[in-house]
Amino acid sequence: MKARIDLNLCSGHARCYQVDPDLFDIDDSGYALNSEVDIDSADEDKAHEAAASCPERAITLH
Ligand code: F3S
Repeated sequence: MKARIDLNLCSGHARCYQVDPDLFDIDDSGYALNSEVDIDSADEDKAHEAAASCPERAITLH
């Protein structure tokens, strides 16, 4: 699975990082750094949680 983060939609809420800082990296202002993250099967629940947590719906799973 991949998580895609639309960096144009990201508004720096940093909730993805709060859900799992190992998967979702942010800059000093709280904005997502990576537009695509590989998700291991063991981390899929966290990825779903992070996608649901983003108020901008910037994270989609593929
Ligand atoms: Fe950005 Fe959403 Fe994460 S706004 S920092 S992708 S929670």
